[in-house]
Amino acid sequence: MTLEGGEGAGKSTLARVLAQRLAKQGVKVELTREPGGSPRAEAIRETILSGAVKPHGPFVEALMFSAARIDHIDRLIRPALARGDWVICDRFIDSTRAYQGVLGNIDKGLLAELERVTIDGLVPDLTFILDLPPEIGLARAARRRAPGEVSDRFESEALAFHRTLRQAYLAIAADEPGRCVILDAAQPPEALADDAWGALRQRLPMTESA
Ligand code: TYD
Repeated sequence: MTLEGGEGAGKSTLARVLAQRLAKQGVKVELTREPGGSPRAEAIRETILSGAVKPHGPFVEALMFSAARIDHIDRLIRPALARGDWVICDRFIDSTRAYQGVLGNIDKGLLAELERVTIDGLVPDLTFILDLPPEIGLARAARRRAPGEVSDRFESEALAFHRTLRQAYLAIAADEPGRCVILDAAQPPEALADDAWGALRQRLPMTESA
């Protein structure tokens, strides 16, 4: 299962709550994130988030995210699934599709090929798309920054960025309704968690008592 959405959507909080609820039902859960999740992938994460890869352009960034993903899948995700555990991953393929693909303007067919060789069939059973108006996501993200750090120019760029990102995620959900569930991430975290839990129980049946 994967969680996707823009910054400030509340993915990591939701991931934790879902993992706790599943654990209460006796389901073993591996909670992880991308980029990262394995030592080598975490090292690649450092490199990407340091900004060192950005000058190489979105396609090279996509390659780096994919390199991290391959190790993460090999070292953590496949072994966990083989044990019968559930995996909740904070960001996965749809982040590459939205950030590098749509925002980075990479050819869709090319990115699909890269995704195919990267995940080798490991498509999530369920993907929650945490959707919220860009103004709210931006305000939440701004609250995390130091005062005075954000200029007006940056704000307007960020708004356009968030709008495109939101549309990119909604388009993915529309393309793959069997895999993706859109959640209203503007609501309070408890209500968001209840919605996600309802959808999860409907889509991924657990044990009889669960
Ligand atoms: P992170 O601090 O984990 O962000 P968040 O809390 O929003 O999840 O940083 C991950 C950043 O990397 C985030 O801006 C999204 C981006 N990203 C991509 O551009 N492509 C990808 O394939 C992935 C997994 C993440």
